[in-house]
Amino acid sequence: MYLIPQILLLLQVVLATSPTKGYAPGAVNCPGGSLTRAATGINTQEENYITNRNPITKSALGTFLSNAGLTDFNVAAFLGEASPSIGLAFSGGGYRAMLTGAGELAALDSRTGSKDKTLAGILQASSYIAGLSGGSWLVGSVASNNYLSIDQILGNGNLWNINSILDYYGINIISDGLMWTEIAEQVNDKSKAGFETSITDPWGRALSYQLLSNFNDKGDAVLWSDITTNSAFTSFQMPFPILIADGRVAGTSIVSSNSTVFELTPYEVGSWDPTLKSFVQTKYMGTALDGGKPTGKCYNGYDNAGFFMGTSSSLFNEALLSLSSSGLPSFLTKLISSIANSDADVADYKPNPFYKSTNQDTTISKASVLNLVDGGEDGQNIPILPLLNRNVDVIFAHDNSDNINNWPDGSSLINTYERQFTSQGQNIAFPYVPGQSTFRNLNLTSKPVFFGCDAQNLTSLTENIYDVPLVVYLPNRPFTYWSNTSTYKLDYSNAARNAMIQNGYEISTRKNGTLDSEWAACIGCAIIRREQERLGQTQSAQCQQCFKNYCWDGTIYQGPDLGDNYSDNGLTKSATYYNSNNVAGFSDGGTDLFK
Ligand SMILES: *[C@@H]1O[C@H](CO)[C@@H](O)[C@H](O)[C@H]1NC(C)=O
Ligand SMILES: *[C@@H]1O[C@H](CO)[C@@H](O)[C@H](O)[C@H]1NC(C)=O
Ligand SMILES: *[C@@H]1O[C@H](CO)[C@@H](O)[C@H](O)[C@H]1NC(C)=O
Ligand SMILES: *[C@@H]1O[C@H](CO)[C@@H](O)[C@H](O)[C@H]1NC(C)=O
Ligand SMILES: *[C@@H]1O[C@H](CO)[C@@H](O)[C@H](O)[C@H]1NC(C)=O
Ligand SMILES: *[C@@H]1O[C@H](CO)[C@@H](O)[C@H](O)[C@H]1NC(C)=O
Repeated sequence: MYLIPQILLLLQVVLATSPTKGYAPGAVNCPGGSLTRAATGINTQEENYITNRNPITKSALGTFLSNAGLTDFNVAAFLGEASPSIGLAFSGGGYRAMLTGAGELAALDSRTGSKDKTLAGILQASSYIAGLSGGSWLVGSVASNNYLSIDQILGNGNLWNINSILDYYGINIISDGLMWTEIAEQVNDKSKAGFETSITDPWGRALSYQLLSNFNDKGDAVLWSDITTNSAFTSFQMPFPILIADGRVAGTSIVSSNSTVFELTPYEVGSWDPTLKSFVQTKYMGTALDGGKPTGKCYNGYDNAGFFMGTSSSLFNEALLSLSSSGLPSFLTKLISSIANSDADVADYKPNPFYKSTNQDTTISKASVLNLVDGGEDGQNIPILPLLNRNVDVIFAHDNSDNINNWPDGSSLINTYERQFTSQGQNIAFPYVPGQSTFRNLNLTSKPVFFGCDAQNLTSLTENIYDVPLVVYLPNRPFTYWSNTSTYKLDYSNAARNAMIQNGYEISTRKNGTLDSEWAACIGCAIIRREQERLGQTQSAQCQQCFKNYCWDGTIYQGPDLGDNYSDNGLTKSATYYNSNNVAGFSDGGTDLFK
């Protein structure tokens, strides 16, 4: 294990702010004024947060760039006139995505107790961190737990015990029964307080037994808006966290061109998309609104953090439904069947806070209930849109999707790229990416790849070419562990959990920099690129070489599929090679590659 447990940080005692001190929302005084706003710009509180965080990210970036081994580059002079902004995106994919993502996050974190420091400090230099579905479990639990490092989470003992979520206490039927009794009571309390519940309520509560297990009653009163009171937030130490869910009319399916992509931040929930273009204050969700004005009492406590993570990952409600056949306590089966509607993957938000929130009539603003589903259901499995809407200079796109054999094939980037040519994407620009066949056969999923390397090549996409971020694409690959475990694998031993995390770490660091001694420098070149272009600065010879190695140069592959090949660099040794060399665990995912 690469992680050296750090001094165990004593968790600050966070006072839960749900007015009922439990899962149910409670009435509060209305703050006055409209609780919604049109999506005309960044929320002012968020803007204030970023303004205050800027000196921190800049200083961390200075340290990273100074240690990155950049040649012919003056860090101080550059940062005197430029301020590159970094956004991190963690894809969905169940625990595979959460754990691989955790290793990728640890690689960027200067607090990680590893000898390897290849990319350490990029987390500290980042402005935003976005998570979707399995990625929302990672981002949500890190942010809610006052920005603990991955080391601290694993060293804590309470958190991230990924024994089957359906059977949390292992074989201890009595404790499991208690867990589900508690959950049933909590969900019932919300319902008795007059709020509609959906299967996402027990799902979010069950998730909290792993993700928020540090808090009293497993976080039943912990809110997403509570993050703004965490000490790591009030001191601007953490990247601003954003979760993603999709708006969908019940009973229909969505693709990237007709989804409404919702962002769930500690301040606001809403969408920039033409089908909504408004935001509501996170803390006051649950309040019945008409055109943003309360029609009765105001409520707090609706934005339960587990409920939000459950919303972003509502696809897994199907897993909960499978419980009915697994011989669990009958009250649970009853609870689930009483609230399960035909659309099991939907989280119901009622009252719909966006009721008449915009002047234009949209399907969402006319409805009495807001239906949110898993953020990956529209195929944009990496949460990139919120980062495009914030004009960051570089996006680290961590792709732990399951496109082929539980490996990614670029589909998520392709969907985001294509969206810009539809009416839903009219305000965004995203760099060119090739199709899946090129991703697979030109080794674009076997090592990190940069997209949008030359802003000058983006003129046919937008006039504001420098606002289009450079994308550092980091696809899931096996280095030390078969990390293509099934999305629906809900059960990991601590050893398997840690091995997944370590493999994620190797993906980000290119095996501790051993595959490329200039990897840190190349990442540095990617981070500074847009600002250099804005300032008309030319790249060093070193950065030009890095871009030769890592940028997609526009080549398209047109040939037969070459199949999977897993070597350190890309295509060389086939899956057959590993199997014939008796590396166990290949087909079920898991087990170390190197014995
Ligand atoms: C990377 O470094 C860590 C120690 O910092 C070590 O545990 C791990 O095995 C290394 N991985 C590789 C692939 O060298
Ligand atoms: C979105 O588009 C897909 C594919 O064209 C279609 O099947 C689906 O019905 C559409 N959904 C909505 C809500 O318009
Ligand atoms: C993992 O990948 C290999 C090679 O693509 C494949 O044969 C195997 O079935 C995959 N395992 C899972 C659990 O998808
Ligand atoms: C950008 O355009 C130049 C000139 O057409 C071309 O040589 C280069 O490969 C392009 N770069 C990318 C990343 O597409
Ligand atoms: C893909 O990787 C293999 C092995 O590293 C290499 O031989 C091949 O040339 C690569 N293909 C491309 C297009 O870079
Ligand atoms: C793997 O890579 C080698 C060398 O690049 C190539 O000859 C072979 O066709 C590839 N595919 C498989 C499935 O082994």
